[in-house]
Amino acid sequence: MKGIILAGGSGTRLHPITLAVSKQLIPVYDKPMIYYPLSVLMFAGIKDILIISTPHDLPKFQSLLGDGSQFGCSFQYKEQPSPDGLAQSFILGKEFIGSDKVCMVLGDNIFHSAGFTGMLKSCIDPDGGIIFARQVQDPERSGVVEFDDNMNVISIEEKPTQPKSSYIIPGLYFCDNEVVEIAENIKPSARNELEITDVHNAYLNKKKLKVVVLPRGSAWYDCGTFDSLKRASNYIEAMETDHNLLVGSPEESAWRNGFINDEQLENIATPLLKSGYGQRLLNLLKKK
Ligand code: G1P
Repeated sequence: MKGIILAGGSGTRLHPITLAVSKQLIPVYDKPMIYYPLSVLMFAGIKDILIISTPHDLPKFQSLLGDGSQFGCSFQYKEQPSPDGLAQSFILGKEFIGSDKVCMVLGDNIFHSAGFTGMLKSCIDPDGGIIFARQVQDPERSGVVEFDDNMNVISIEEKPTQPKSSYIIPGLYFCDNEVVEIAENIKPSARNELEITDVHNAYLNKKKLKVVVLPRGSAWYDCGTFDSLKRASNYIEAMETDHNLLVGSPEESAWRNGFINDEQLENIATPLLKSGYGQRLLNLLKKK
C-alpha cells in the first residue's frame, strides 16, 4: 500500500502565523505538524509516501524530510499548483499509486488512541474505501456521516450548515486502486473543489464503503485554527510529559516497525539531544 500526505492550502484560518510558513510545518508541541500524519502512515506499515504541497512550500518539506531513507522509507514529492480539493491528490498521485492501494492522510490531522496501530494495520487491504467517524461538538466544520439505528451509513455531506449527525469524518482515508478513476470522474463542487466526500459517496453508491467509528477516548484534532492548534499542543504535551508517551514520532514508528534498528535510532536521536526530543527517542531503547 502507498501513502499520501496532503499538506497544501494557504492556512488562512491561522493567519498571520501561516503568512510565511506552511501550516503543516508549524509546531504542535515538540514536532512539526506533518510528523503526526507521517507517523500514522508509518505505523500502518506504509513506507512509500508521496507528500503533496504548494509549489512554494514543497521545498521546505523536502528539506525537513528528505528522501525518507533515514526512516527506512521512500518519500516522493509532488506540487499541487492550486488548492483544487482533497480528492485531487489521487489524480496528482496517479503515477505514484500505480496499481497499488493507497492511504491518504491530511497534513493537519492528529490521531492518537490506545490500539490505534492495530486498527490501522487492519485497514491496509481495503476492498473499496475505509473511512472513520468520530463524534464532535462542531460537525458543521467537517465532512459529516449520518447513520441509521444499526450504524449503516445513510448520507455523507461536506460541511453541512444543518448537520444530520454529530459524527464527522477525520482526514484519514484507505482506498483500493479504483480511487484514481473515481477522483478523475467527480465534478468540482459549488466551491470549485474536488471534494473528498464525493469520493466517499462514490464508494457508498457502490456499497463499497466501510465506516469505522473511532473508539471512545480516541483523540483527533485538525489543527486548522488557533484554538484547535492550541488544544492539540496541550494534548501532546500532556501525553509526553505526564504519561511519558511519545506521540506522532516518525522515528518511533520506523523503529517499532523494524524499518530502522536500535543503532540507527540512536544515530538519529544523538544530534537532537539538546531539545529533549532526542532523549525521548533514546528512552524508547531503555523501555525495551
Ligand atoms: C477536510 C475535508 C473534510 C474532513 C476534514 C478533516 O476539510 O474536506 O471532509 O472532515 O478535512 O479534517 P478541511 O478541514 O480541510 O476544510
